[in-house]
Amino acid sequence: MAAFRPLFIFKISENTYRTIHESGTACLGSSQDRTGSPEGVIDIKVLFIGDIVGSTGRKALKASLPELKSKYNPHIIIANGENAASGRGITSAIANEFFNWGIHGITLGNHTWDNKDIFEFIDDEPRMIRPANFPPGTPGRGYTVIKANGKQLAIVNLQGRTFLPAIDCPFRTADDIVETLRQKHKCILVDFHAEATSEKIAMGWHLEGRASMVVGTHTHVQSNDDTILPGGTAYITDTGMVGSKEGILGMQRDAVMYKFKTQLPARFQVDEGKWQFHAVCVDMDEETGKARKIQKIRMYEDEWRMD
Ligand code: FE2
Repeated sequence: MAAFRPLFIFKISENTYRTIHESGTACLGSSQDRTGSPEGVIDIKVLFIGDIVGSTGRKALKASLPELKSKYNPHIIIANGENAASGRGITSAIANEFFNWGIHGITLGNHTWDNKDIFEFIDDEPRMIRPANFPPGTPGRGYTVIKANGKQLAIVNLQGRTFLPAIDCPFRTADDIVETLRQKHKCILVDFHAEATSEKIAMGWHLEGRASMVVGTHTHVQSNDDTILPGGTAYITDTGMVGSKEGILGMQRDAVMYKFKTQLPARFQVDEGKWQFHAVCVDMDEETGKARKIQKIRMYEDEWRMD
């Protein structure tokens, strides 16, 4: 059981002890102990970073990337940047900053159009994708292929329709795009930006065995259901966010609480407190596109914790 290191052993009765394992890693196979690459298998390692929220999230990203690169050695790094500019949308300057820090591809979501600046550059930036199930004719692209460090990864962005605007069907869009991509690419990442856990889990199973990894974004709270589905698809309902730890989903608490309590409009602003950082690292077989390991990453400012 090399992947699950025991952290604490509790005595729960005179002769019974319970071991609590570090739970950041799920591996393909029933034994969950395949941490190394079988001989001859070529791996590609992908770091996927959840929603980066405002200046606090950007500060966390800049501070964390060197350590993450050193510990995980990812070939390709993808991040969700739809909240990067003051919590709403992304600008050209911020996107370029991310690329300069070593992010290879950026996914978006329901805040894609919140900065008008995006219309000036999204068509010309092949490393950035917005949800593919936006209406036909929408600027930008819903999928792309990222090439870095001698590896290739196709990335797809989709948005859910439950508790979000009624856009085109993400499941049928996924079918069309993934089947097209699979003709040329084995390794496929899908960022499913959605609100409902049920819709996200459904997408994981929908693409099981067809996508290498299906990772959720948008709800900002890292879920504890990271797994490798039987067909070799790494899955997590939500990757979690990068931004203020003591705000509410990255925004200042007072305004959010005021709105909940009064139902009156409130102006949400990015909280500038200490940060939290969430991501997943997925190891996949480059020849088959099947995921072999998914590891949750969670860190806090001044309190480094890497499972
Ligand atoms: Fe979102």
